[in-house]
Amino acid sequence: MKKFYVTTSIYYVNAKPHIGHCYESTVADALARYHRLKGEDVYFLTGTDEHGQKVAKAAAEAGITTQAFVDSVVKPSLELWKVLSISYDDFIRTTQERHIKVVQLFFSRLHEKGELYESEYKGWYCASCEAFWPEGQLEEGSCPECKRQVEQITEKNWFFRMSKYQEWLIGYIKGHPDFIKPESRKNEILSFLEQPLQDLCVTRPKSRLEWGIEIPFSRDHVSYVWFDALINYISALGYAGDEAKFKRYWPADIHILGKDIIRFHTVFWPIMLHALGIEPPVTVFAHGHWLDGKGRKMSKSLGNIVDPVEMIKKYGPDPLRYFLLSEIPYGHDGLFSEEALVSRLNTDLANDMGNLLNRTLTMIEKYFGSMIPAAAGTKGAVDDELKALAAALPDKMDAAMSELDFPAALASVWELINRANKYIEIQAPWKLDKEGKVDRLSDIIYNLTEVLRIVTIAVSSYIPASAEKMWSQLGITEPLSKARFSDIGKWGLIRAGTKTNKGQPLFPRIEQK
Ligand code: MSP
Repeated sequence: MKKFYVTTSIYYVNAKPHIGHCYESTVADALARYHRLKGEDVYFLTGTDEHGQKVAKAAAEAGITTQAFVDSVVKPSLELWKVLSISYDDFIRTTQERHIKVVQLFFSRLHEKGELYESEYKGWYCASCEAFWPEGQLEEGSCPECKRQVEQITEKNWFFRMSKYQEWLIGYIKGHPDFIKPESRKNEILSFLEQPLQDLCVTRPKSRLEWGIEIPFSRDHVSYVWFDALINYISALGYAGDEAKFKRYWPADIHILGKDIIRFHTVFWPIMLHALGIEPPVTVFAHGHWLDGKGRKMSKSLGNIVDPVEMIKKYGPDPLRYFLLSEIPYGHDGLFSEEALVSRLNTDLANDMGNLLNRTLTMIEKYFGSMIPAAAGTKGAVDDELKALAAALPDKMDAAMSELDFPAALASVWELINRANKYIEIQAPWKLDKEGKVDRLSDIIYNLTEVLRIVTIAVSSYIPASAEKMWSQLGITEPLSKARFSDIGKWGLIRAGTKTNKGQPLFPRIEQK
């Protein structure tokens, strides 16, 4: 069985998750579900990045211990992922023993191999971003990222001999066209690598920061938070402990993360792995950012975040998922607006898909006593067109999903939905009923339920909770989780005589003020 290992980045716990985090989790979840639908052995990892100055600071501000603080943030996050149907197989927290052990081992192995050396570090440091900045990159003495004041720091630290791998990395990126995606990000990294790469300062003195993973051979130091965090992708698999699991799933097939952290994942991470003789991930695929109405990235520090819990309370989890996936092409930035979300809910979900389901179930109830009729064998060009469109769906979805083009994948399903709605208008089943043309009526209704079966499987990766409800309204008794991607391309699987359960409309229209 083919394996598929997908990860999100691990989220900081200095604040609760926002729309940007929901986006990343939804993207990874949709991808994981898509591969499960294909019958693959999927391992979907997400989690939280719990060390570092930011977290220690937030805890101090809240007046509680750092561990109590991180626990208090992780709990509502887990609830949010449950509500949003994020089907992770594993949730890693960097404060877990299983992770700490691997990070310490990673350091020891690098140390034994002579990949680390001790030296003095002097530089401009931004405590908020936990990053040192070269003087030339400062903006009027402030951090170019968060615009906060930086401070000059001199301290003894351990350095990772990253610079010696620069040529190897350039060759690796050029020789593996799928390693960095999209193309624009690859070019960005290759042009960054035209400058000499510096060695990386990978520790912090405990005197300045205690909340971190202790370095086994240098007890006065803790790990630089990014070094610790990146290792989560292998510690979760039980690196150097559970050989079978590690061998089964590593290398990751895809790391999903935002464009702001692409450098950590495509420069530091592959070199760290390579230094220990571990293969780099197959693909690092960066997404864009959700921006506020003023075009600024949503972030805690700017105070412009949209609270996903509030959106879900108002509109439900699947409309939020659908909006996030369909609104912007993966890799691009997008403006988040509640009006745009409501408008997608009303048009695509309520008008198009909800209506198709509701009309069809109403007709089955009215004309056939809530029992799916058997196909009677009448034929028409419109039927062939509908079936041909359904038959073409798997290839279209595959082509879109291989590039993480969620809007295109969804558009191909909606093409079928819209054609089916048109089919109803052209065929006017209510007339056939009046005229007593039962055979033709049966065929039309059968074809519509087949389309609905196909649509339900096709949307199950994107809006899983709604797909479950659709499946149960259609009355199909085999669990949806048993359905396979190949069932999308088949015609005639829904059984005549199936008892439908018309319920409440799945997506009631929202009246916009
Ligand atoms: N903890 C690090 C990641 C370590 S991975 C080894 C981190 N955390 S974060 O919480 O700041 O960001 C987590 C992810 O959320 C990143 O991929 C980031 O790009 C994404 N987003 C944060 N704000 C975002 C938007 N406004 N829009 C879309 N995604 C955004 O970085």
